[in-house]
Amino acid sequence: MSVSLHSLAVPAAIDLRSDTVTRPTRDMRAAMAAAEVGDDVYGDDPTVNRLQSVIAERFGFEAALYFVTGTQSNLAALMAHCGRGDEYLVGQEAHTYLYEQGGAAVLGSIQPQPLDNEPDGTIALSRLERALKPDDLHFARTRLLALENTINGRVLPLEYQRRVTAWAHAHGLATHLDGARLFNAMVKLGVDERTVVAGYDSVSLCLSKGLGAPAGTMLLGSAAFIARALRWRKALGGGLRQAGVIAAAGLYALQHHVARLADDHAHAALLADGLSGLGLSVEDPQTNMVYVDIPPASVQDLQRHLAARGILALIGERTRLVTHLDVPRTAVHATVRAFGEFLAR
Ligand SMILES: Cc1ncc(COP(=O)(O)O)c(C=O)c1O
Repeated sequence: MSVSLHSLAVPAAIDLRSDTVTRPTRDMRAAMAAAEVGDDVYGDDPTVNRLQSVIAERFGFEAALYFVTGTQSNLAALMAHCGRGDEYLVGQEAHTYLYEQGGAAVLGSIQPQPLDNEPDGTIALSRLERALKPDDLHFARTRLLALENTINGRVLPLEYQRRVTAWAHAHGLATHLDGARLFNAMVKLGVDERTVVAGYDSVSLCLSKGLGAPAGTMLLGSAAFIARALRWRKALGGGLRQAGVIAAAGLYALQHHVARLADDHAHAALLADGLSGLGLSVEDPQTNMVYVDIPPASVQDLQRHLAARGILALIGERTRLVTHLDVPRTAVHATVRAFGEFLAR
């Protein structure tokens, strides 16, 4: 059980709930204020157009499209890949399946085929093979494999992705990657953009998580795929007008906030070390998320204890603590100290 702390009257000093809580920096705001804009539904916004072409080029795709959220980008992607009565293979833990209100089914008439994720976030190839439907009128048509990287802070192995995307293509399936935190995976692996997306027909990349922009997700794919996604974006109410004001934050983040994700990973490792030094059971973090077990009887008290010290965290039996742009090293030390005081009571 976790105590609800979804809204706050006063910003906390240290907010570990998610990497979505960052506020635009002064320089990011200056870039936003200076953005050249136009009506993006007419394709007239020069800043959006620049962001789309910069990111498409960087990742080696023909085209890119700006969305206001990752949920909308993933949904438009699934709808651009699949039609009514088609099916997509997806992990039980995947955001598109578990945390987007089943939008693919509800709004896209697409049947999900959820499959268990392994502890490392992958879906076993044998499971995928068993789930693939034959061409038979009793079944939905399996059209797409959707993966997520990072998934719950874990990085999918490159070799695994090479194998499963090749398998999908060999069976006529398209491949989509929810890369809300793909930059974290890229920085962790120390590979370039084109390597981290190899094998995927489409990729959704959030600018509003570790990169620190206030909004924005990029969808990447072929020109024909992006043309279909553009139609769905309009139907989903995602046609923005002078979107350059927020797209400028994305351009700024791509330039200034990618390499520094390594700091977030180092801070997560430091936090994990500190908490396990206190005797808590902590998973070794791969990127910016630390998972720690909290005894059920302590959940509410710990949440209050931390909140009283200006530390916001969604405490549960399995607590996720997330490091980001607004969590400096001193905040990590303060958090470990606050946990220590709680355990010493
Ligand atoms: C893995 C993943 N995909 C997609 C999303 C959706 O992004 P948004 O909140 O911008 O809709 C999230 C949001 O946290 C996410 O964690």
